[in-house]
Amino acid sequence: MTSDELRERYIKFFVERGHVQIPSAPLVLENDPSTLFTSSGMQPLVPYLKGEQEHPAGRRLTNSQPCFRAEDIEEVGDNRHTTFFEMLGNWSLGDYFKKEQLTWFWEFLTKELNLPKEKLYVSVFEGTDQVSRDNETCEIWESLAVSKDHIYFYGAEKNWWSRSGPPENMVPGDIGGPDSEVFYDLGAELGLHENSHWKGKDCHPNCECGRFVEIGNSVFISYKKKEDGSLEELPQKNVDFGGGLERLVAVVNNQPDVFKTDLLWPIVEAICAELSIDTEIEYGKDQTTDQVIRVIADHMRAAVFLVRDGVTPSNKIQGYLLRRLIRRSAVKFTSLGGMLGMLNKMTAPVLNAYDNTDYLQKSEGKVQKVIYDELERFRITLDQGLEEFNKRKHIDGKIAFDLYQTYGFPLELTEELARDRGLKINRREFSKEFEKHKELSRTASAGMFRGGLASTGEAETKYHTVTHLLHQALREVLGNHVIQKGSNITFERLRFDFSHSEKLAKEEIRKVEDLVNEQIEKGLSVSCEEMDKEEALKGGAIGAFGERYGDRVKVYTIGEPPFSREVCGGPHVLNTSEIGRVTIRKEGSAGAGVRRIYAIIDG
Ligand code: SER
Repeated sequence: MTSDELRERYIKFFVERGHVQIPSAPLVLENDPSTLFTSSGMQPLVPYLKGEQEHPAGRRLTNSQPCFRAEDIEEVGDNRHTTFFEMLGNWSLGDYFKKEQLTWFWEFLTKELNLPKEKLYVSVFEGTDQVSRDNETCEIWESLAVSKDHIYFYGAEKNWWSRSGPPENMVPGDIGGPDSEVFYDLGAELGLHENSHWKGKDCHPNCECGRFVEIGNSVFISYKKKEDGSLEELPQKNVDFGGGLERLVAVVNNQPDVFKTDLLWPIVEAICAELSIDTEIEYGKDQTTDQVIRVIADHMRAAVFLVRDGVTPSNKIQGYLLRRLIRRSAVKFTSLGGMLGMLNKMTAPVLNAYDNTDYLQKSEGKVQKVIYDELERFRITLDQGLEEFNKRKHIDGKIAFDLYQTYGFPLELTEELARDRGLKINRREFSKEFEKHKELSRTASAGMFRGGLASTGEAETKYHTVTHLLHQALREVLGNHVIQKGSNITFERLRFDFSHSEKLAKEEIRKVEDLVNEQIEKGLSVSCEEMDKEEALKGGAIGAFGERYGDRVKVYTIGEPPFSREVCGGPHVLNTSEIGRVTIRKEGSAGAGVRRIYAIIDG
């Protein structure tokens, strides 16, 4: 079965059960400050899962969502991990719940895909102090004739899902719930691992040995984390299902290696074809070589999709990640004897693999140019950088910084090269050097790439509130024709688009900046009220009142009397004094009649 066929059958299966297929979102979401990349299908649906808004397509939704998980970079190399993947998803927004979900998914696996029941294992939430054991899910699995010895209970570490992890790690405002995963037993006879507990009693579905591969997760999103650390039940009980397309295709074809399935194999083949011109390299002969080839294949595919969605290599968060993927591939490719100039050719098999989808149509030119240019930039310094690296017996933070600064080696890449030689880099030393070069982004030293949410939440919340202050300040300085046209927040800056047709004068920028900072200095409190849309409009709240909002909206008010009243989903600081000093860094055009501002908090 091909990936195209499986994707289609899954969507059809759920459409036949009352779901509407919704378009997939880009990998970088506008207006979502909570994470750097779309890393699961539910992410664009958060406001609807919270019950804050009604989804225009209804309460049963399905799609296949391209996802990127930066935090999995180091996991890539085995038979099943990738940074980029497609997630098949179906959702119930307060409609059906556990029984329908588990029954349908089981039917999809065993009838539609014909997977043998004896190879399937399921996991169930064992409960915590706050949320009880999910006996209902266990009973449903039993009613579907899943035998008791194929049902495993685990704690919140494994069987609770939220974007910020188990309940105790959840960021206030985030949502999640107990989940139930399905695993496929790849079988001991495949001899994938020499792991000691391979056949022993210690092996179980969540064992890391590689025998079991997780193929789908039904999350019962029904809780929200409160500021005081407790969990509050959501007004609606949701289902958030996600299943990895590549893994499902692998197991349907009885193939334990996802890199041998049709979306990845052509890339692997192209890499090997290029390498074999000068070397004896073949896939499947040597585990270490296979791992390296998998990394290159994964990273090139991920890079193509990131470029598709507008990311370009840079020293800022997303761009840095893309740069890291491309440069890591480059180092790996040359380490196997490949010619760096040839790596660019690997974009073609990625583009071809998605020929039957509309994912990459129209992106070809851009993808090839951006990746080619980045490889060219790196080509100039790679050999010298490696030479510099190889000369050293000891790699301290200062040398790592030089490699970064002069030769364009991302810190993590140098760390990996050092690790291969049994050396460790002192990150603090690196950061110190970094601090000396203020003009560079703090990204690399900030350890940003661990998933984003928890570590960046606070900064981003501040930027959210600054966005409201800025919006109002612009209206006061330029006039009430100013209305938000777009917003994008990362942990280190905000970007704000608004309607206005002329370039802002220096004086105007200064006035806006002063007005924002005055409000911050005043220590205004920020409060939130829920009300009908009509009432919000009457009360003078600003916001893009389109179909984006349901009948009930949240209005955030800053100050009393209010400086700003705006419709928004949050999160916001409680008092503007938490923010710090705001500086407008850049002002420019963002299309006809739209201006764009970048601002930072720098004090
Ligand atoms: N959100 C869940 C996950 O990413 C299920 O879709 O696993």
